This record gives sequence, structure tokens and C-alpha cells, in this order.
Amino acid sequence: MRKARFDNPAAEVAQRYSESVSLDWRLYRYDIAGSIAHAAALAAAGIITADERQKIENALRTIEKEIESGKFEWDRSLEDVHMNIEAALTKRIGAAGGKLHTARSRNDQVALDLRLYVKTENGALSAGLRSLQTALLDLAEQHVDVVMPGYTHLQRAQPITFSHYLLAQIEAFERDVDRLRDCGRRTDILPLGSGALAGSTIVLDRELIARELGFSRVSQNSLDAVGDRDFVCEFLFCLAMVGLHFSRLSEDLILWSTSEFGFLEFSDAFCTGSSLMPQKRNPDMAELTRSKTGRLYGNLMSTLTVMKALPSSYNRDLQEDKEALFDSADTVRAVLEVFTAMLPELKINRQRMEAAASDPNLFATDLAEYLVKKGAPFREAHEIVGRLVVHAAQAKLPLNQIPLSKMQSFSSLFHLRRKTSRRRSNVGETSWWRYARQAPNQQSQTPDTAQ
Ligand code: ARG
Repeated sequence: MRKARFDNPAAEVAQRYSESVSLDWRLYRYDIAGSIAHAAALAAAGIITADERQKIENALRTIEKEIESGKFEWDRSLEDVHMNIEAALTKRIGAAGGKLHTARSRNDQVALDLRLYVKTENGALSAGLRSLQTALLDLAEQHVDVVMPGYTHLQRAQPITFSHYLLAQIEAFERDVDRLRDCGRRTDILPLGSGALAGSTIVLDRELIARELGFSRVSQNSLDAVGDRDFVCEFLFCLAMVGLHFSRLSEDLILWSTSEFGFLEFSDAFCTGSSLMPQKRNPDMAELTRSKTGRLYGNLMSTLTVMKALPSSYNRDLQEDKEALFDSADTVRAVLEVFTAMLPELKINRQRMEAAASDPNLFATDLAEYLVKKGAPFREAHEIVGRLVVHAAQAKLPLNQIPLSKMQSFSSLFHLRRKTSRRRSNVGETSWWRYARQAPNQQSQTPDTAQ
């Protein structure tokens, strides 16, 4: 490529500094698919013969097999995957290979390869998220009736079921799948035909290339198409959000696996021991996942920063997008794999969860809502129950052990309907809350409605 324009070869240090093949070799499959489709369009336009097209395709498929079997020799003095493959092609078939780059530049070629890569990874990671959701759903089904405290501010708030918690995770990952689908729509655009920046005087059937490669649209502006990496930024953002969700899930599980909570245990297969303290069972998989979110954010940030104030169309800066992109996709793939395997093996300690959830204070809100149903404005009911909670603490009584007569001194709305059954007449003296717990739907249970 240099020999006509330059008198001297590139400095070895400059070559080493600027090569990208050590990273972008991973794009070979997309590069080859793009070249095969491009050759078909060149043949349709009469630039190469049908025979040349066939030769190009055969040789590219052979090269692909060589790469896959690890026999291909990557030459670092040839900048990138595109030049390596083209050089290998020309070495194999001579002049016909030299015709392949007609009406194409590495600028639209690399944009194409990246779009194909992101499309493929997007599909694989979405499928991975679906498997993870299935694992969460299975776990929820197994523990559908396990009650635990729900927390806000990490303080016990209201009782929930463990399955309620797990379904919340499924919702968050559902938004990730949806976001990826949306990002996929803007990735699904063929940039080939844009050339270096201004297209080409040789007009190719871009719709044909798009069809061959499975793109649903072609790009509209060549300047934009070679310099656009929005789809990379968006994809990295989607993956950063996946990481965010995993970090929160990890944190909850880590916390709940402590002796202080004792709500669950990671299986041996997903725990590590300590080299010093023999008793330790460390939740390293969840901890590593929590921290991998940092690199997912970092990759997004570094790519946004590469793009900032970049002059229009292609600039070599764009070569720096790959490391971040590959790293985020690989990271999320690994996280999904570990969590999908680890979740079914979680040991849930129902007793510990339910003991924590049976703190009567967790039903203070239900009690306030009971008063609302009796006609109290909610703010007033809130205050009455607040005072009751303070009284219970001072009297060193659990909230559900306060006698009905005492409760009535806080509000006359705590009363029994005359027409209540024999059983109901006990409610206030013993524990309205125990009845609530026995009933199938805790939320609607109040002293009067408990059976
Ligand atoms: N290695 C380059 C990259 O990854 C390919 C495009 C190079 N184009 C150029 N004009 N140097 O971005």
C-alpha cells in the first residue's frame, strides 16, 4: 500500500504502535462475509467476472478455515485484519484478489465489520439474558411461598416473598433485552458503499449487499456512515446497564449470605475459601461481578471520550473503539454464564428469612391501612400507628401483643364489629397479626376481616 507514495518504510516503532491486527483479528468472520458479498456486487456491476468472483469466494473460505484452525499467520506489519486477509487472498489468487478492494475503503469496511460483530453479540447476549431470566424464574417458582422482609434504606420495611424479589430482577433484565433490541435497530444498517468518505464513481447494488449480509437498511450518507460509532456507544451503554443490574443483584446476594442475615448460601462450587481463615466461604463470583461493572462503565466512558469532538468522517482515533467493545461483550458473556449456572444452586434458608419477616413492626403499614378502611385519613392513621409503635417499644411489647383495649386508647377505630364470630372476638386480646399470617392474603387482613 505504501510503495508508490512513500520512499521509505514505516518505522518499526510506528508500526508496532499503530497496528490493530492483534485485536481486530477477531473480526475475520465478518470481514470475510463482507468481502464475499462485496465481490458478488462487483460481479453484478461487471467489474469482475463470474469466474473471478468464484475464485475470490473460494479463497476467502479457505482463508477462513485456516484462521479457524489456527494455521493462519497474522502479519503484524500489515496493520489490521482487513489488510492481512486481502494480502493472503492476493497471494493465493493473484490479480483477481487485487480487484476486490474496488469501490471500497477500509473505512467503510471496518464500519461494516463492527456492525456485523455488534449484531451478532447483541443476539447472543440477549439470548444469554433470556436464559438468566429463566434461571431466576425457576428459582422464584421453587420458593414461591417463602416470605422475607423487604427493605428500603436497608431497614426492614414490609414483608415480601423471595419470589417477588426475584421477579423484580427479571423486570430489570427485561429492560436490558428491550434496550438491546432498540440498539439493534440502529446497528442493522449497511455502511458499505460509503468508500473512504465520499462513495465511489463505481456504483454497486447496495441493496444486494445488504440482503446478502442480512441488513435491513442501507446507510443514507457516506460521510456519516464511515464516522458513526453511535451503535458502539449505545451497545456499550446497554452493557453498562446490564452490569449495573448485576452489581445490585450481587450486592443483595452477598449481603444475604452473611452470617448476620443468613438468608442464603452459595453452593460450594461457587464459593472460595480463605488461604488463612479455615472457616471462610467467600462469595467471590458475586463480588467479581459487582466489580466488573466498573470496567463496563469505563469502556463506555472511554469510547464516548474517543468520539468527543472528533472531526467528521473517519479518523484513526476510531481504531481505539475495539478494545473497549470486545472487552464489554466478553465481560457480560462471562457474567451471564456464571450467574445462570450459580443461581439454581443457591441454598435458600426459609427459616431465617421467615423469622426476619415475622417482626410485627413490618405490619405497621397494614395496620395504618386497616384504620384507613375504618375511615381514618391516611396521614392520621400513619400517626396513630407511629405512636403505637413507640408505645410498644417503651412497653417492651411486640406490636402484635398490645391488648385491644390499649389500642383503642390510641384510636376508637380499633374496634370489633358486633356481628363478629366467636373467634373474631379474641382478635384484639391475642394477636391480630397472627391471624394475618395464617390467612392466604396477608395484605388485606385486618383484625376485623381475619377468619
Ligand atoms: N485499522 C483501522 C481501524 O481499525 C482500519 C481503517 C483504517 N483506515 C485508515 N484510513 N487508516 O479503524
